[in-house]
Amino acid sequence: MIGIIFGPPGSGKGTQAARIEAEFNLKHLSTGEILRAEVARGTPIGKEAGRIMAAGDLVPDKLIVDIVRGRLPEAEAGAGVLLDGFPRTVRQAQALDAMLAEEGHRVDLVIALEVPEGDLIERLLHRAKVEGRADDTRKAITERMHEYHKLTEAVLDHYARQGVALERINGTGTPEQVFDRIRRAIVISSR
Ligand code: AP5
Ligand code: MG
Repeated sequence: MIGIIFGPPGSGKGTQAARIEAEFNLKHLSTGEILRAEVARGTPIGKEAGRIMAAGDLVPDKLIVDIVRGRLPEAEAGAGVLLDGFPRTVRQAQALDAMLAEEGHRVDLVIALEVPEGDLIERLLHRAKVEGRADDTRKAITERMHEYHKLTEAVLDHYARQGVALERINGTGTPEQVFDRIRRAIVISSR
């Protein structure tokens, strides 16, 4: 199974992906986490991406598609893959579809987390105090929301048009409540 956990910044993609990975034995692939590791190690990719990420902008499609191309085969070798933070533009979605098609695969399920923007900003500003992630500043958060609406939301239409199963999940409440909704949706969609 190839799944995508989708949603705006702060909607709980990473939080829920960890739970889904554990329960459904999918390999969690987060492009944001991969990039943050590159930044921390000071690699050439990290140097290119760091400033862009801190400003809340999207890194170039080619850079991110190359990263996923490098990681996908290993991830696909297991029971399945859960993509988090990718694809984030229609171009990335088209590149992903082409990569998967080479192996006779396709995206099977999109789980879209829905959370009101006020809650998202509150969560991210709270995390800023606890973890200090470089892009959890008011300015970068505003830019991340802007990029989401401008470029990322259209990925949902891309998959809806293909007839891919799309589960819209209420992402408010406790992480456990959200996961219960996701679990039910995955079980039903895999019947
Ligand atoms: P990325 O790392 O993907 O960040 P994001 O999409 O902005 O989302 P977050 O990771 O902040 O939030 P999340 O939805 O994972 O929620 P989380 O579980 O953490 O991308 C970062 C940057 O990398 C991008 O801006 C871009 O520059 C670059 N990038 C990455 N992928 C790219 C791509 N494909 N193309 C181009 N550029 C790319 O939860 C958020 C907070 O809320 C946490 O503190 C959490 O504890 C809390 N929380 C979670 N659930 C709940 C709940 N139910 N109730 C209350 N609090 C909750
Ligand atoms: Mg995340």
